[in-house]
Amino acid sequence: MSTKKIAFFASGSGSNIENIVTYMGLKQYNIQYLIFCNKPDAFVLERAKKLNIDSIVFDKSDLRENQSVLNHLKRFQPDLIVLAGFLWLMPPNIVQEFPNRIINIHPALLPDYGGKGMYGMRVHESVVLNKEKYSGITIHYVNEHYDEGKYILQETCLLTENDTAEDVASKVHALEYEHFPKVIEKLLLANS
Ligand code: GAR
Repeated sequence: MSTKKIAFFASGSGSNIENIVTYMGLKQYNIQYLIFCNKPDAFVLERAKKLNIDSIVFDKSDLRENQSVLNHLKRFQPDLIVLAGFLWLMPPNIVQEFPNRIINIHPALLPDYGGKGMYGMRVHESVVLNKEKYSGITIHYVNEHYDEGKYILQETCLLTENDTAEDVASKVHALEYEHFPKVIEKLLLANS
């Protein structure tokens, strides 16, 4: 694979980002990363330091009004923009600037348990409340609406009636760690 660039967007812990970076490192791909984060105290920023990746902290106006995030992205020229636990909606100007180059991971089987306000543990709590027999992950392209872009991959995990929301979260995270890096690798290889 030729040299690639990935821009990550995250609002939380960033364990998926670390997992992806580790996977790509083991494969010895030459990838430059940049992490965008909308929460100044998010743990992903600690991970960024540890992984030696530059990070940019931004607020709502940087994303929606003054085009600062868009301008950073234009300068960076990412091959792929990866939302990994990012909780804000991508504005239309960014979606339009990078058609088919923005992907998101959602911790449930969309279209169920998606949309505004459905993220992280809230998803798993609703899944448990509804006594679902399955949950899973959806990796999809990003458009101007929450969780509505074209699906790239869905993977399922079996739940038991005793599973707590934390149990569901760890089953879903296991699927994320296994499949998200491979999907990203495939997309990058497809446009090498
Ligand atoms: C992941 O489970 C991801 O699917 C979810 O946030 C978690 C982030 O974990 N994303 C959403 O809920 C988006 N709607 P991480 O920060 O440890 O990678």
